Amino acid sequence: MKQREPEARSLQARSSGQWHEHYVRNARSRLDVPWERGAEITPEEKEAIGESLQAWQLGETSDGRHLLAAARRYARRQDDPLFVEVVRLFIKEEQRHGRELGRFLDLAGIGRVSRNWGDTIFRAFRYCLPSMEIWVTVVVMVETLALLYYRAVRDATSSKVLRQICAQILRDEVHHIRFQYERLAILHRHRSWPLLAATRLVHRVLYSGIVLAVWAGHHRALSAGGYSFATYWQAAWLRMRFAWLRMDPVRYSWSESLVEAEPQAELATDR
Ligand SMILES: [Fe+2]
Ligand SMILES: [Fe+2]
Repeated sequence: MKQREPEARSLQARSSGQWHEHYVRNARSRLDVPWERGAEITPEEKEAIGESLQAWQLGETSDGRHLLAAARRYARRQDDPLFVEVVRLFIKEEQRHGRELGRFLDLAGIGRVSRNWGDTIFRAFRYCLPSMEIWVTVVVMVETLALLYYRAVRDATSSKVLRQICAQILRDEVHHIRFQYERLAILHRHRSWPLLAATRLVHRVLYSGIVLAVWAGHHRALSAGGYSFATYWQAAWLRMRFAWLRMDPVRYSWSESLVEAEPQAELATDR
């Protein structure tokens, strides 16, 4: 086993109680969206971001049934019942994103969609392998790209309503990413270093695919927001490298242990 630098263990993962507090507080302190102004989106902006926004809105509207089922199994094993409530609040926040984007799409006369290839792939991936780890891994990657995406949409439009919706989503997603990378650190904390190295390799391969898929589906909106493929690729990896650093279990102090069960047990039984 590799020797760990003691000073590396400076991070502390939040407990379910702390996350519960965060989500409750966050639901109460939201930015005001000036809906009374109307959509104020130009035909050019609509053309550039409309279709992409429809797909992203669909992705934000999952009912979370599969995730909740995985969270319940995981929480039972970890003896952490509050974790299910936290996940419920997290899903509610994602659904609010979906609701507000949907309301904007209606207001702008763009309309909503009920199917999209990207959304179908991501859902299928998560549903076929319904373990907490797989779910969190995919979601932290998508949410990392969501930071780039909503920033691009915000910069691609003069609509005050849409800009404010994006600002709120960006505020929320920063915490979602932390929620996921801390969970991955917890899930990985008993993993041996060779297995951890293999996990990291799988992450990089998977992330490359997701980065390319998001560009394929949303390059028009991303370009309208100022990204070229090169700057998008660079920003995507920079952001994810931060999340990878923060999901490294050696950086955490586990003295106030949050959970005790072996994450390997979850992997074995969830699939
Ligand atoms: Fe979201
Ligand atoms: Fe999110």
